[in-house]
Amino acid sequence: MIGRGKPLLQGHILSTLEIKNLSVNYAGSNGQNTLALSNVNLIMNTGDFVVALGASGCGKTTLLSCIAGFMQPSEGTITLDGKPVHGPGAERGVVFQKHALMPWLSVVENVEFGLKMRGVSKAERHSIALDKLKLVELEKYAHYPIYQISGGMQQRAGVARALASDPAVMLMDEPLGALDALTRAHIQDLIVELWWQTKKMFFFITHSVEEALFLATDLIVMTPSPGRIEHRFKLDFSHQFIECKDSRKVKASPEFISMREKVLSLIHDGQAEGEA
Ligand SMILES: Nc1ncnc2c1ncn2[C@@H]1O[C@H](COP(=O)(O)OP(=O)(O)O)[C@@H](O)[C@H]1O
Ligand SMILES: [Mg+2]
Repeated sequence: MIGRGKPLLQGHILSTLEIKNLSVNYAGSNGQNTLALSNVNLIMNTGDFVVALGASGCGKTTLLSCIAGFMQPSEGTITLDGKPVHGPGAERGVVFQKHALMPWLSVVENVEFGLKMRGVSKAERHSIALDKLKLVELEKYAHYPIYQISGGMQQRAGVARALASDPAVMLMDEPLGALDALTRAHIQDLIVELWWQTKKMFFFITHSVEEALFLATDLIVMTPSPGRIEHRFKLDFSHQFIECKDSRKVKASPEFISMREKVLSLIHDGQAEGEA
């Protein structure tokens, strides 16, 4: 259904990612096992912006690694449009907290790199890369070396690189975690715009409650020991931003503040239970 809070999807291929009964058990060297994820179930569709929020150690990165195909779960399945995920693939683009750009290449060469590996012609991959750089407002820096651009720009270049293969799913693990508050707020706005323009499915990890509320159409709150999804919320603050283009106004609204307090208390209660 196309409704409030979702970008218009006409003309776009609709994808579904389905996570069923997912569990991950890490075997420790001392014989102690860590149940990093226990029975996680999640369905995501094109246009959904799912944010996984939770304290450190609740299994967020483990869940993203399974979706990315970097690791196999101990139990359960992940399918994208019915096809099981068994390894990394171009239909799933990944952005990490610490950019994984190649410092000896320029910004645009980094964005082109995956396409080059897949044999896309020079002219075509250059044009695609410049297009993605435009989406993250970095086209003016296309020919800069990576070390000459700021941390925020490097993260944006990482986003452009993930977009280059036109993935169905964008997977982002605390991509803004190392940035200063102003840069972070600016890139949050940019990510909402990007979601709205590209209509992609996003799976985004953060431990910032405010960031989670602002970005998510679907918020999942995770708790540790074992890592699991404890609460789910449908939100439309990002849609409010698309309408008014004023993120400070959205984040200062009574509705946003009351949701922030509600989620904060859920997280604190969850931690208290975990400690008991
Ligand atoms: N490679 C690993 N081997 C053993 N334990 C791990 C490994 N990776 C993560 N863990 C444990 O699994 C749990 C979940 O970790 P992680 O997915 O990184 O959580 P988050 O990203 O939410 O901080 C933690 O208790 C962590 O210590
Ligand atoms: Mg993590």
